Amino acid sequence: MRKGMVGAFLNVKGANNVRKLQEIAVKETRLGIPLLFGFDIIHGYKTLFPIPLGEAASWDLAAIEKSARISAIEASAAGINWTFAPMVDISRDARWGRVMEGAGEDTYLGTKIGLARIRGFQGDDLSANNTIAATAKHFAGYGFAEAGREYNTVDVGTSTLYNVILPPFKAAVDAGVQTVMNSFNTLNGVPATGNKMLQRDILKDAWKFNGFVVSDWGSGMELTDHGFARDLKHAAELSANAGSDMDMESYAYVTYLKELVETGKVEIKVVDDAVKRILRVKFKLGLFDDPYRYCDAAREKEMLYNPAHAVAALDVARKSIVLLKNEYVKGSGINLLPIAKNQQQIAVIGALADDKNSPLGNWRLASDDNTAVSVMEGLKKYTSNIRYAKGADVVRGKTEFGSPVTVNEADSSGFKAAVQLAMSSELVIMVLGEHGYQSGEARSRTKLDLPGVQQQLLEAVYAVNKNIVLVLMNGRPLAITWAQEKIPAIVEAWQLGSQIGNAVAQVLFGDHNPSGKLPMTFPRSVGQVPIYYNPYNTGRPGPKTEVFWSHYSDESNKPLYPFGFGLSYTSFTYSNLAIHDEDPANIKVTVTVKNTGKLEGEEVAQLYIRDKTASVVRPIKELKGFSKFSLKAGEARQVEFILTAAELGFYDNTGTFIVEPGEFDVMVGGNSTEGISGKFTLK
Ligand code: BGC
Repeated sequence: MRKGMVGAFLNVKGANNVRKLQEIAVKETRLGIPLLFGFDIIHGYKTLFPIPLGEAASWDLAAIEKSARISAIEASAAGINWTFAPMVDISRDARWGRVMEGAGEDTYLGTKIGLARIRGFQGDDLSANNTIAATAKHFAGYGFAEAGREYNTVDVGTSTLYNVILPPFKAAVDAGVQTVMNSFNTLNGVPATGNKMLQRDILKDAWKFNGFVVSDWGSGMELTDHGFARDLKHAAELSANAGSDMDMESYAYVTYLKELVETGKVEIKVVDDAVKRILRVKFKLGLFDDPYRYCDAAREKEMLYNPAHAVAALDVARKSIVLLKNEYVKGSGINLLPIAKNQQQIAVIGALADDKNSPLGNWRLASDDNTAVSVMEGLKKYTSNIRYAKGADVVRGKTEFGSPVTVNEADSSGFKAAVQLAMSSELVIMVLGEHGYQSGEARSRTKLDLPGVQQQLLEAVYAVNKNIVLVLMNGRPLAITWAQEKIPAIVEAWQLGSQIGNAVAQVLFGDHNPSGKLPMTFPRSVGQVPIYYNPYNTGRPGPKTEVFWSHYSDESNKPLYPFGFGLSYTSFTYSNLAIHDEDPANIKVTVTVKNTGKLEGEEVAQLYIRDKTASVVRPIKELKGFSKFSLKAGEARQVEFILTAAELGFYDNTGTFIVEPGEFDVMVGGNSTEGISGKFTLK
């Protein structure tokens, strides 16, 4: 450091620690340039919000922005001035463990959510002491790893690259994101970190990005393993020339960049450009005015776990819950949910119900273990007629940060007690799913079932008591096809962070009417993956003959739950779709949404289009607008959507954005498969 060879740290935290290092940089180095302190603040610093995939299910941009804002307030108070978030990788593959870190499968929704997160982190004034630089990552294609296997090859065509993968990054750049992180994968044969087309031609030249590109952890040195660079020196040359400005953890630049400039392999203007970009971000953060502006120990004390942050975490956690099914058991006539308070004997089964740790997810480098309100704790606030049995353990996925796996995933010795408890209870709440460390980086799975013996546990309990509410905790879509057929009520609760127990209890007991909608398709079987709501139609979409059409012989093409799906304790109808297409630059679509149930509730009205014919075929539907609002029982409102060139056009195979005249279908509804439709012709 004193030699001036460090420009940024990652994973240093705490106002006092940061101050000490900043003092050395500013007072004891030749140029006195302050340091950046980067950290993965993915869904909170101390107070944890839902994992990003879960939070995306809220479709509530204000709540999502607020969660990023609070994360920045806590992190900046602890010395951090740069987060490696948001991840704006679109992914259609639930096997990939990092789907938990993004906003799901859709480019339109993912773009809006990415922008909300960037606004939350960076605020209006980057030099304020509670705003931090954001990172759009991973540039690019990381979510399309073959077979969902982490770090695997990415080979995508131009249409997918330009229309699906790149738009959230472009929007982030236009909105002023300060940094972009490249990625581990190859893209069409060229590793992203050494990819000049991505980093120079597209990001810096075409999009005019003036922040800097940071490599992913060691992705520079991995150019050798990819078979792209001969050795570390060659890797430094290739990544610098390709536009990777800052080297995270490869020690390639610090070791070789000087020599590479002296020998003419890297032009000095490449280094100057990278330096300028990094300095610009440091200036914008205000570090040259006051290098200690993020180092206030008193503010740190006041902000971390501030009670107001818990209130916001509870709010967005409730909004992220998706009601997947709510029916009644034969003979009873009333839906299982919401549960009547204090009226019945309730059995709670499943290790995750009593877990204060797993709901915090896997990205929680700064937070404290066992700080979530467990589901059991939340439920106990509503009723004393409640008893618990673990039934079976949930295997904790491997982690390099925590203790080794100690539980036996095949152990069914707890079944007996769970079954007995279920027999002597009127209602059973089963909390099943994945441990927080079973999704995330390097946690790909080939199965999308309930891990361990949880499925057997569910079936054993079902055999004695059918009044089951299944609460899922998971970091990815799961193929719970058996449960959907048999279990009367299913609630998707992801890993909702610090307030999960309160959020789940409020939804189950009806103090909060669920309104979340899936940001990612749930498959019926892992063999359908990648499955997503907006594929192309193919030349043989339907059964003209029994055999020769695009389908599986052993499973339906349909998902278990489609994109955008989520129920409520009330019901909504859609009517009066009208399209005003007089002005082709500004097409207005209006629809009436009515709450036809007995309770107040929130709905997310979703607008999808289909461009019927185009020079590059367009998906069977594409989300191009949504609106979330609350309606009282019986209340109706008109919802308006505007379609402009931005929504109606697309990128051709040269990467040029074009709008083609022709016929469009429009559908508006409460999910991607149901709604009312109309059409218009774009002149
Ligand atoms: C991840 C990045 C993360 C970085 C720094 C890498 O392994 O891919 O998303 O920001 O580590 O922790």
